[in-house]
Amino acid sequence: MPIPDEKIEEVRTATDLVEVAEDYVQLKQSGSRYMGLCPFHNEDTPSFGVDPDQNLYYCFGCQNGGDAFKFIQEIEGVGFLESVRMLADRYGIPLPEEETDPDAASERESILHALRFAARFFYRQLTQSDRGRPALDYLRRRGFAPETIKQFGLGYAPDEWDALLTTAEEEQIALETLEKAGLIIERNDGSGYYDRYRGRIIFPIFSHIGKVLAFAGRILDPDDERDQPKYINSPETEVYHKKEVLYGLNQAKQAIRTTDEVLLVEGYTDVISLSQAGVDNVVASSGTALTEQQIGVLDRYAKRAVMLYDADEAGERAALRGMERVLAAGLGAYAVELPEGDDPDEYVQEHGGDVFSEHVQEHRQDLPSFAYQRARRNGSLDAPEDRVDVQRGIIESVAQIPDANLRREYVAHTSEVTGVPDSDLFRMLEEEREQLERRAQRRRTREQKRQQRQSEEAPSAENEAASPTRGDASSPAPDTANETTSGPALLPEERVLFRLMLENGRRMVELVLGHMSLDEFSEGGPRALARALAKMYEEGNVQPQQILNGECGETLQQLGASVMMDEHEASEHWAQKEDIPVPHLNDRPYDAARSAMKFLKMDRADEAIEAVRERMYQASQQGADEQVQRLQQKMMSLQELRKGIKRGAFLDD
Ligand code: UTP
Ligand code: MN
Repeated sequence: MPIPDEKIEEVRTATDLVEVAEDYVQLKQSGSRYMGLCPFHNEDTPSFGVDPDQNLYYCFGCQNGGDAFKFIQEIEGVGFLESVRMLADRYGIPLPEEETDPDAASERESILHALRFAARFFYRQLTQSDRGRPALDYLRRRGFAPETIKQFGLGYAPDEWDALLTTAEEEQIALETLEKAGLIIERNDGSGYYDRYRGRIIFPIFSHIGKVLAFAGRILDPDDERDQPKYINSPETEVYHKKEVLYGLNQAKQAIRTTDEVLLVEGYTDVISLSQAGVDNVVASSGTALTEQQIGVLDRYAKRAVMLYDADEAGERAALRGMERVLAAGLGAYAVELPEGDDPDEYVQEHGGDVFSEHVQEHRQDLPSFAYQRARRNGSLDAPEDRVDVQRGIIESVAQIPDANLRREYVAHTSEVTGVPDSDLFRMLEEEREQLERRAQRRRTREQKRQQRQSEEAPSAENEAASPTRGDASSPAPDTANETTSGPALLPEERVLFRLMLENGRRMVELVLGHMSLDEFSEGGPRALARALAKMYEEGNVQPQQILNGECGETLQQLGASVMMDEHEASEHWAQKEDIPVPHLNDRPYDAARSAMKFLKMDRADEAIEAVRERMYQASQQGADEQVQRLQQKMMSLQELRKGIKRGAFLDD
């Protein structure tokens, strides 16, 4: 423990929690307490109280409460020791320097130390050296004042192979640390290291409490852009997790809190120019799509996010996706387009902060308006089937809003925007909510299974082969016990399909397995059952009884029995979605099968889309542009595929 207990008590005593909390909340005295709007949840009437005598806080609304350290931990998202340090700092209490144990914490510390050192080095190179002169001139020409350059800690990396490296070595900073900090790179032939950033303007990336975590280096001469990337970005390191960091947050957080609003821009220079013009509540997501983690961070400070996007197809798509994620996290989401293809940097440098803020205020659109307008511009409203796609797309996003009241507001608004009666939209909403619930259920199942696999010794391949499978090798007889008893390994759609096939025999097997491939069924039991049925069909002898009486093995028998015991309920819902008038399995079995196949296929498409999205994110982080493009293509074709499934195109042939 680097901080002795007495020191911690000293900091606690020195701290005035009312004063500390007032940085974040407006407090009013009320009796012996101070009350204000809780910073930890959204509310209109104050239920957040601070007791000045006991130095404790408590929110009667969300039950968050504790001492000053807890308050700082919660509101700044830091750990205990960091909260002590921050308060010690504030009240001028010196703390012992951190230990130099060779453990993980101290490795982090050394990396942070190296990064801080590098930031100072780059800053000095920019502001005090001749070789940094062209870079400084460039920044000045772009309108960045010296105070701004200082505030954002901008720097210059000299155009040499080892400028930082040699200076750091003089400071006794270990090569290993520099490498782990992402500052130097090992030569291919292993003969040594060289600086990652050379001849570039440096943008330090800070944590939300102002620690240097990483750098981005921008090219100076636009002519070089043809054979070099415009930005060189830091790799992921032990201290830099790109998915979690927002550029500019350390400067912006106070303003975000007072305005309840965060503006999201694309570029570093956008953040800096806006801040210089007095628009302080701005952050950038560092060149990647806004991640859930980043939104989670913003959630601590903001009630709503306003996305400023490039007025091109890619920018619009990113904004829409960002808004959807923001809404799903329970924040408000808006998008603003700037006139004439300006980016925020250009616009604010030309028109100033007030005009910019006015524009943002007046031109914000919420998701339904934005999506609908975009669709209209793209000509996606001309054909009825396209219009329905657009409506459904909007409702898909709305369905993810966690608050039911807000969902209702959004549906009503969507009805206004699209002219579709809101009762129809509410029906769509219900369908989407069900699908979300199923997806969540599946995720829970997968998670459960993963944990199960980890905790138990997984049954070996030999065990599986030895399990009592009568008949032939057509069923790989997966682990039986939990597959059937706990049930969730089967999706509800699969239950319906199996039941229909087992009940109706050959013609139903033909319909279902003629339109589904085996790998669309869940791994393990379900796929084995489908395979067994397919085999029977191929052999011209579909006898579901053989499955139920155990001739095809115990696993499949149990599985078969479990689906035959099912309630009809699930399929009724799908049938309703499809507007099938008489939904019961027994009444309209073929319609029910079509409907279940459709939802199973859509679930699979969603999984594939999610996987590609994840790969795309990783590729973009590694700067693998070609791969990103390939994946983008793939994503588009998957989305097309999903649309086709939704229309039931797979049934046409
Ligand atoms: P921009 O090209 O708009 O850059 O990319 P910018 O920061 O506004 O720079 P200026 O105004 O042209 O000087 C927006 C963001 O995308 C990421 C960076 O985070 C950048 O700020 N980016 C861009 C990269 O990571 N690598 C690149 O090669 C280009
Ligand atoms: Mn720019």
